[in-house]
Order: sequence, then structure tokens, then C-alpha cells
Amino acid sequence: MTATMESLIGLVNRIQRACTVLGDYGGDAAASLPTLWEALPSVVVVGGQSSGKSSVLESIVGRDFLPRGSGIVTRRPLVLQLHKTEPGQQDYAEFLHLPRKKFTDFALVRDEIQAETDRVTGKTKQISPVPIHLSISSPNVVNLTLTDLPGLTKVAVEGQPESIVIDIENMVRSYVEKPNCIILAITPANQDIATSDSIKLARDVDPTGERTFGVLTKLDLMDKGTNAIEVLEGRSYRLQHPWVGIVNRSQADINRNVDMIAARRKEREFFATSPDYGHLASKMGSEYLAKLLSNHLESIIRAQLPGITSLINKTIDELERELDHLGRPVGVDAGAQLYTILELCRAFDRIFKEHLDGGKLPFDR
Ligand code: GDP
Ligand code: NA
Ligand code: MG
Repeated sequence: MTATMESLIGLVNRIQRACTVLGDYGGDAAASLPTLWEALPSVVVVGGQSSGKSSVLESIVGRDFLPRGSGIVTRRPLVLQLHKTEPGQQDYAEFLHLPRKKFTDFALVRDEIQAETDRVTGKTKQISPVPIHLSISSPNVVNLTLTDLPGLTKVAVEGQPESIVIDIENMVRSYVEKPNCIILAITPANQDIATSDSIKLARDVDPTGERTFGVLTKLDLMDKGTNAIEVLEGRSYRLQHPWVGIVNRSQADINRNVDMIAARRKEREFFATSPDYGHLASKMGSEYLAKLLSNHLESIIRAQLPGITSLINKTIDELERELDHLGRPVGVDAGAQLYTILELCRAFDRIFKEHLDGGKLPFDR
């Protein structure tokens, strides 16, 4: 990725975070902010319960921080913003609901997600559409917004209302129907792909498959004598993007505290030494998926850059007017946040113009 693209994507990411912090206020202050937010791509993880969604998301991030396990563990949407920082900086996480608190111990991040889930839903099997916003800053991540969602399910279990099946589907649908949403459709390899809920839903909202990435998890759990070559080579179900096979940590690995580095090594070994998948090894695994997503994101932003730029300019105008006049009371935090957004938009515009002045658009390669 070019340095220019990286800084533009970084700014887009920070504008998105600033809009999140601003919350509903953004709607009044600058009419273009919600549109700007909608224009920016984000990645959503979709799949059946225990298909491996949270595990996939964790391995894209390269950190252990999500509650995982059998049954309904993810019960509120988790909107995760990744921010790439300068080399040598320490990794840290921040929650929107705990401003000014920095987490450097990621085990505590997991505890907080669990506690914050329970705070809204109780220690039940109920779900809530109210998202938890978390951001992770690290030199080792790509600038990306990822959302983890409760798993699609076919039947309510003890302690859940009958409406849960349709409630979850509607919640997931509200995320994936947005045209800026990149869908990571998770299917476990030990189930029939024809019955995959994630693929069904993805096909519904993205019939041409241009914003759907098929991810096949649990390749290590397939019955002996079977393999997933037909799916991985795109013959079972064709998508515009190639399918990616994944081997996440098993429950036994989680119980034994197998760490991310060991898990990735094991995953690489699985593909490299597999008689079935050896020829596909360089296009399989979590690290490859992260790279694929980052490249895709770059190409989307590149294509949308002219539109995003004019929206950003409109936002700058609106914010300058708003902040000049302050015709109505602005809370201290909201005002400061608007200034932050304004500064970020100006920085974006500056970088964009510098490259325009050089006679070369940043998306012109
Ligand atoms: P989610 O409910 O879709 O978020 O799924 P989780 O990520 O919580 O995983 C559910 C369970 O499946 C956990 O016990 C994981 O350890 C296990 N799991 C997920 N992916 C794999 C995989 O690729 N291989 C194996 N063996 N187990 C996996
Ligand atoms: Na689960
Ligand atoms: Mg989960």
C-alpha cells in the first residue's frame, strides 16, 4: 500500500471513530457526517452459532481479546476499530463506554466485553442490538473497522424468547444490507455449505457476491476421507472473491491457553503439510485473509476517493459554519469532538490536494 493511501485510510478511520464518539450529535452539527460515515467501508462477520466468527476476527487482529466458546457467547454487536500506530508503540484498547481508560492487558478487555454484555442483557441467553464500541491501537494492525455479531440460529433454546431466531437475523441483516459493508460469510467446513446460513443471507443482500468473502473454518474437523477442495476452489458456490480456508484454535487449544503465535504457526503447518490443500497453502489462513481484506479495502477507498473527498469538503464547510456561529449550545465534549473531526477532515483534504498538485491523484497508480 502506498504511504499516501495508508494515511488517507488512517484519516478516514479516525473520522469514523470521531463520529462514533460524537454519537447522535453529529446529525445536527453537520448534515454530511452521517453520509460520510455510511460512505466508509467496514467489515462484518456473519455466520451460524459457533461457526468460528469471533475466532476469525481475533486472528485478523492478531490478539486474544474476545469471549469465545460453544453456545451463544456473542450477545451484543461488537464494533471494533483497528488503528495502526507508529512502529514500537505499545498495543492498547479503549471502550467508548469507558472514556479515558486505556487497557494494555487484553485479558481484561475480554472481561470487560463480558461484563458490558451482561450489563445490558443480564447473565442470560438474551441478545441486545445495542453495540459495544471498542478500539485497538497497535503498530501491527491494518486500519479497519470490523463488527462481530451474534450467531444466526434456527431454534430458540431454554431461556430465550421464541422471537430470538428472527431478532438475530434482523439484527445481522441491518448491518449487511448497507452497501458499504464487506461481508465475511463464515461457514464451518464440517457442515454442508448448501445449508450455510451466512451464505444464504449474503446471497440475499449481495446477489452478485462483490462484497462477500467466503470463509471456511474448522477445516481440521472434517471427517477423514473428505475435503473442502470443491468449496475452496469456488466450484460449490461461486463468489467474486476467492474462498479462504481457516484453522482456528479448538476449544481444547483455548482451554490450554495456546497463544496467537502458536495458533498461527499451527495453522500455517496445517496447510503447508496437507496433502489436500498444499497447493493452495499460500492463499489460505488468517494472515492471508487479513491481507486480502486490507487490499480490498484499499481498492474500495481508492475507487470512492473522489466521492469521499467531496463529502469531506462539504463537512469542513458545515463544521466551520457551525463552530463559527455556535448558534445553539454545544456541550464541551461535542464541541471538542467537532473540532477534532474538522482537523481530521482538513488533514485529509491537505494530503489529497498535495497529491493533486503533483499532478497525480492518489488513486491513480
Ligand atoms: P462464534 O460463536 O461463531 O463466534 O464461534 P467461536 O469463535 O466462539 O468458536 C466456537 C467454538 O468453535 C470454540 O470452541 C472454538 O474453539 C471452536 N472453533 C472455531 N474455529 C475452529 C477451527 O477452525 N477449528 C477447531 N478445531 N475449532 C474451532
Ligand atoms: Na460461540
Ligand atoms: Mg462469537
